[in-house]
Amino acid sequence: MEFSNKIILITGAGSGIGRVTAHAFAKEGGTVIVADINEKGGNETVKQIEELGGKAMFIKNNVADYEDVEKMHQTIIDKYGHLDVAVNNAGIGGIPSRTHEHGLKNWDQVMAVNATGVFYCMRVQIEQMLKQGGGAIVNTASIAGLRGLPNNLAYVASKHAVVGMTKTAAMEYARHKIRINAICPVFTVTPLFDPEVMEKLSAGLSGKLKKGIPMKRFADPIEMANTILWLCSDKASFVTGHAMPVDGGLTA
Ligand SMILES: NC(=O)c1ccc[n+]([C@@H]2O[C@H](COP(=O)([O-])OP(=O)(O)OC[C@H]3O[C@@H](n4cnc5c(N)ncnc54)[C@H](O)[C@@H]3O)[C@@H](O)[C@H]2O)c1
Repeated sequence: MEFSNKIILITGAGSGIGRVTAHAFAKEGGTVIVADINEKGGNETVKQIEELGGKAMFIKNNVADYEDVEKMHQTIIDKYGHLDVAVNNAGIGGIPSRTHEHGLKNWDQVMAVNATGVFYCMRVQIEQMLKQGGGAIVNTASIAGLRGLPNNLAYVASKHAVVGMTKTAAMEYARHKIRINAICPVFTVTPLFDPEVMEKLSAGLSGKLKKGIPMKRFADPIEMANTILWLCSDKASFVTGHAMPVDGGLTA
């Protein structure tokens, strides 16, 4: 029960990596604030956790709206008085296309959620963690935050931004006992990356992508959750500013 008495906020916890991470924290005794723009998905995650005997509550939230982000954190502080762990995980993939054809609206949307959303959340979280004397933050970046990914300009730019913000903020607040890290997942089977849908769109693509990963498979969301839990635990007490690939060796 590594996270007993801890208050844990996870954005984008109504699906995929965020949902599995919410389950994992709840299993370790944490009280999980499930935040998502999707009310149905968020409520489902809470119900699943409660059915397993865990503690969770849902807050509907758009990470790209600063007032909404402030309001969400205020709700948490009013109810619990502290925020020990924040996982800034909400993200969107955007519409793939080459750079000279990349949609202007797509750029704005992807940057607003994936990059600005992480900035907005960290801004408010760090202010609270300074007041309470510490905390741990993990941002979900991507291998696309460490290397290029053709046809995904906005996504790659947004995830490089997440890695840069993680490192900068980690250096600023290390002496205040606030640890800030990122994980960089490779293709992970979630609604955002569904190999079956992909196969229908382009036969053979899923196999080609797998071939490029040294472990020759896609990731399971629990492998991301396990890494996030470790980064937020006392076992990682000297780890900050790290952008950790969880990628079956792809970026090695
Ligand atoms: N699945 C992968 O292969 C993969 C690989 C690398 C990185 N990632 C990153 O992992 C994170 C989680 O992705 P996932 O695969 O679980 O996807 P997912 O689509 O299953 O989950 C993302 C969640 O974020 C929520 N969301 C979207 N926009 C939001 C907003 N404006 N405010 C609040 N919530 C919002 C969605 O409603 C959804 O519940 C994302 O940041 C994604 O970029 C995923």
